Amino acid sequence: MQIVRDVHVLRTAISGLKAGGRRVALVPTMGALHAGHMRLVERARDHADHVVASIFVNPMQFGKNEDLDAYPRQETRDAAMLEAEGVAILWAPAVEAMYPTGFATTISVSGVSEGLCGAARPGHFDGVATVVCKLFNQVRPDIALFGEKDYQQLAVIRRMASDLDLGLEIIGVETARAEDGLALSSRNAYLSAQERATAVTLPDGMRAAVSALEAGAEAEGVLGQLRARLSAVGFGPIDYVELVDAGSLQPVRTLAAPARLLVAARLGKTRLIDNFHVNAT
Ligand code: PAJ
Repeated sequence: MQIVRDVHVLRTAISGLKAGGRRVALVPTMGALHAGHMRLVERARDHADHVVASIFVNPMQFGKNEDLDAYPRQETRDAAMLEAEGVAILWAPAVEAMYPTGFATTISVSGVSEGLCGAARPGHFDGVATVVCKLFNQVRPDIALFGEKDYQQLAVIRRMASDLDLGLEIIGVETARAEDGLALSSRNAYLSAQERATAVTLPDGMRAAVSALEAGAEAEGVLGQLRARLSAVGFGPIDYVELVDAGSLQPVRTLAAPARLLVAARLGKTRLIDNFHVNAT
């Protein structure tokens, strides 16, 4: 596996991979890799001849009081994991290479980026859209893979790719979970042992809420109960507990079409997010 930090070197290396019409997949990450990221790599291999992974902890998507400095960085370990999975190129630019002095462009996707994490983290999705657009232009992949774990992010990227005619296919990959059901996340490393034990209430409570909704329970009541259950075990503040249309991400209270239950809540210092599909009834 080639580790590349310069965009000109990257372009040459990618041209080599694409020779003879071979398909290239991109898996963008911020590193601190876990089995969730590796699932994206595996799925990428199913869809393409070569896999390019990127590791870039993107300052533009972190708020002023967020965990940019504390975000786990472990590139040597990450590189070994990617190499073992057959990744051809690791694109790992420095911040100055990505955002040279004078950088002045922002991509802002309205609509799907506005509620939920967009409301709780102002500017976050502008940062995500901008860096992902840059990554797409740098690598020019045929396909790119993103986790359903970050459901709103996936919707924002799909919208951007379509609106800007980026000419690549976006593939969403199901959330990888620990044995007890907690969604894998680089931020789980921040949880104390006690918080980790409590964290499972999030997927457990959400699954119970999905069952209740699909059985016809009234949405407002179910969302209120889930919120109360999370507060009772120590989650807080809770950014949102929301039921939205699976496509538009607009809040819904009836299940006329497939929906998504999404939660973001803090447990101690750690912000956890999760989401589940809810069938139309
Ligand atoms: P990061 O949090 O490192 O996640 C990289 C990719 O892995 C994202 O597409 C995310 O949805 C996916 N992922 C994370 N946990 C997962 C899990 N448990 N199961 C399945 N997929 C999972 O998301 C980002 O980085 C950044 O915002 C990025 C898109 C790289 C832009 O900076």
